[in-house]
Amino acid sequence: MREFDENSITEAVLSRVRDATDPRMRAISEALVRHLHAFIREVRPTQAEWEAGIRFLTATGQKCDDKRQEFILLSDTLGVSTLVDSINNPVSGDVTETTVFGPFYVPPPAFDHGADIGGAIEGTPMFVSGCVRRASGAPAAGATVDVWHSDEAGFYDVQQLEKTGGLAGRGRFTADGEGRFHFWTRRPAAYPIPTDGPVGDMLAAQGRHPWRPEHVHFMILADGCRPLVTHLFAQGDEYLDSDVVFGVKESLVRPFVLHQAGAAPDGTLATGEWISLDHEFVLDDSGQH
Ligand code: BEZ
Ligand code: FE
Repeated sequence: MREFDENSITEAVLSRVRDATDPRMRAISEALVRHLHAFIREVRPTQAEWEAGIRFLTATGQKCDDKRQEFILLSDTLGVSTLVDSINNPVSGDVTETTVFGPFYVPPPAFDHGADIGGAIEGTPMFVSGCVRRASGAPAAGATVDVWHSDEAGFYDVQQLEKTGGLAGRGRFTADGEGRFHFWTRRPAAYPIPTDGPVGDMLAAQGRHPWRPEHVHFMILADGCRPLVTHLFAQGDEYLDSDVVFGVKESLVRPFVLHQAGAAPDGTLATGEWISLDHEFVLDDSGQH
């Protein structure tokens, strides 16, 4: 057959991709064609709507460079990143839940325990402490703990390097023999994801706000354990129920405890208000995923 209509086109495309030699490529290609055609059959776009869709995807690609990844933002805001994360990191016992990676990670400088990673960031001092253990019980001594977060206005260092004068609000720690780590920084804030591109236009057209609740990012690696990419979210934040990228999990919502001037757990004498955040991270060492 050489000519196709609404009734025959889907099967025609499917029969062409069935010759893919790699079985995974064949399965993915078939599913792509089936679902894409089903979407078009449901929406029945006009020619003008189809052209607008092509323009939207083109603009999304054109917005990408080595610092900005608009396609990941699109995946995040359509819940696809969380779906992929959930498929690949199913909840398992008391293993700490994962969430989206986000676009603001860069390999951080290493610090000693107790260091202040805030750099040029201003805001309320925050003392963060934690311990890392394996689900089978033992402390994850020597685990690498990477941390990153926004400033009090909701901006990451990499979004305003001219202001921060370099990396700030991010650091790498090596968990001690008991799997523990602690450091000082500044309290972050809820923030809107970048809205100056097609994803921002999409959110506005869908009647959605662009905000993420206040959070601190963690990536924790330890020998024999599944890498953990997660956040801790501030209890009480107004955006916990409507995170624009669907990243919140109840088990990751933690108290950001406000203290008055006085001694912190590491002996530091705080001269004004300060915040503490503490959490136990549990890594999957089952070797099953
Ligand atoms: C973040 O938390 O850094 C983030 C995650 C997804 C999209 C934008 C930002
Ligand atoms: Fe973030």
